[in-house]
Amino acid sequence: KWSMENFIEQQIREIRELVGDKQVLCALSGGVDSSVVAVLIHKAIGDQLTCMFIDHGLLRKGEAESVMETFSEGFHMKVLKIDAQERFLSKLKGVSDPEQKRKIIGNEFIYLFEEESKSLEGMDFLAQGTLYTDIVESGTATSQTIKSHHNVGGLPEDMEFELIEPLNTLFKDEVRKVGEELGLPSEIVWRQPFPGPGLGIRIIGEITEDKLKIVRDSDYILRDEIQKAGLDREIWQYFTALPDMKSVGVMGDMRTYSYTVGIRAVTSIDGMTADWARIPYDVLEKISVRIVNEVENVNRVVYDITSKPPATIEWE
Ligand code: XMP
Repeated sequence: KWSMENFIEQQIREIRELVGDKQVLCALSGGVDSSVVAVLIHKAIGDQLTCMFIDHGLLRKGEAESVMETFSEGFHMKVLKIDAQERFLSKLKGVSDPEQKRKIIGNEFIYLFEEESKSLEGMDFLAQGTLYTDIVESGTATSQTIKSHHNVGGLPEDMEFELIEPLNTLFKDEVRKVGEELGLPSEIVWRQPFPGPGLGIRIIGEITEDKLKIVRDSDYILRDEIQKAGLDREIWQYFTALPDMKSVGVMGDMRTYSYTVGIRAVTSIDGMTADWARIPYDVLEKISVRIVNEVENVNRVVYDITSKPPATIEWE
């Protein structure tokens, strides 16, 4: 009979049998799927698993630290952290086209993963957090063609790994249950979707350090207030985006000319269609006041009230 405990036990048995005394590599992103896979496999084979966590410099505030804290310190897993902020930023210099940015980030990710995994000798298996829906969707080329998503089948095909995909019969809600059962913290189990190209597609136009800081800091405030208001589970995704524009404001008796931050928050079932979230005005008020007060070089906050379609969830 199918149950969560049975599923985990059976997977552990199968993974042990398949892997034997060999080594497994897993690309850890901090998202739900790769986190659950990593912890499940670690439970089965312990230190025969090595996780690789690539920080491309386009992560949210506190994200890299929290991944290391959870997996390396909390679960005592072998996590190799690759700091590649400069490499990605220099590749992205001067690039403003959204699809071009995605391509550069996706490709660079693969090159880097390839390079780094070569330096780790003796890896026979590659673990991936492929879900049932990933297989179905990428098989039928649905919305994937509208924006090139790089996290489905994004890892190099010519690498000599045998794949382990223990979640490929599960739906998202089942993966969350497995995660809870495995003792993953609820911030990870219930984490909102975060795109592979990260903050790179939340800065309209060219990505710079200054703009990254604005998106990171404003996004952090937004997440904090949404969580405090208890809205984090009912809103599918909530984040800030930075349009490439400045406008006039006033502070004290000084005229300012600074950036505008956009708030995006949507409800959705699967991300294919979405409705803008009706965040209460008083919560929006707090977010707006905090962003303008706490984030340097921002003097205006706007709220995106378009649904998908005709807009998309991300601004790029
Ligand atoms: P859109 O903006 O197309 O987003 O309405 C739908 C969902 O997909 C996510 N998204 C991406 N995920 N790589 C990803 O891994 C991407 O390039 C990408 N673009 C959008 C978006 O966050 C939302 O959940």
